[in-house]
Amino acid sequence: MALIIDGKKIAAQIKDECREKVAAYKEQGIEITLAVVQVGHDPASNVYVNNKKKACEYVGIRSLSYELEETVTEEELLALVEKLNNDPTVNGILVQLPLPEHIDENKVTFAISPKKDVDGFHPYNVGALSIGLKGYVSCTPAGVIQLLKRSGIEIAGKNCVVMGRSNIVGKPVSMLLLRENGTVTVTHSKTENIKEITRQADILVVAVGKPRFVTSDFIKEGAVVIDVGIHRNADNKLCGDVDFEDVKDKAGAITPVPGGVGVMTVAMLMSNCTASVEINERA
Ligand code: GUN
Repeated sequence: MALIIDGKKIAAQIKDECREKVAAYKEQGIEITLAVVQVGHDPASNVYVNNKKKACEYVGIRSLSYELEETVTEEELLALVEKLNNDPTVNGILVQLPLPEHIDENKVTFAISPKKDVDGFHPYNVGALSIGLKGYVSCTPAGVIQLLKRSGIEIAGKNCVVMGRSNIVGKPVSMLLLRENGTVTVTHSKTENIKEITRQADILVVAVGKPRFVTSDFIKEGAVVIDVGIHRNADNKLCGDVDFEDVKDKAGAITPVPGGVGVMTVAMLMSNCTASVEINERA
């Protein structure tokens, strides 16, 4: 049976570390504020936004809530972002995605000041990651790296295979693994003989967006398997991109769903908000 990587425990450690730093900032008279913008009432977004606000409360970060109607115009949303960009009391801005179809998500994401982009989605921060500059790293990819590091899993020199090339997970995770000196291969829907490649992986990060896609024949005995997927099956139970029951006895370590990568996203958001004080100051 593989080591089950406990995302809940690691996320709790990270939030506690942030809480200590935030308390130390407060003693210096510095308060951190995150502006959370939600458009409409998507049920999944409601849950995510609530979790983010609850985490802020625990860590000691002030959260400002902007709940906009589904019918808000792109101009109105951009005007709010601009107001928050120019507000010196706001350290971080998060616009929850997805946005309604009549609003261009890229336009909104790119309008957020890179210094307040705690999601790490702005092209400046994406570019900074790829050339090794300091900046915000998006939360889920950063969470994957923390799960590995805090479980004592060496990345340097290892064969790392990332399944999926999305802008929000696959690409940034591969850049981060490379930054940690892993030898990185990215597979995607057009990859031929995919199992031959994934079976070479010492560390396999799965972000394909297909429930239980990865079975034991995709992995090498003893591999570390990180599952970024989250889905609901026919019984309304959560499952990942990895068939956990099939893979758990062959893997050396594996993340569960829920309780693996998912919980890390909010913890890393808290970490980015805590780091915002220093990043806001940068030229
Ligand atoms: N929607 C789903 N995940 C995320 C996230 O990490 N950030 C934002 N802004 N929206 C999301």
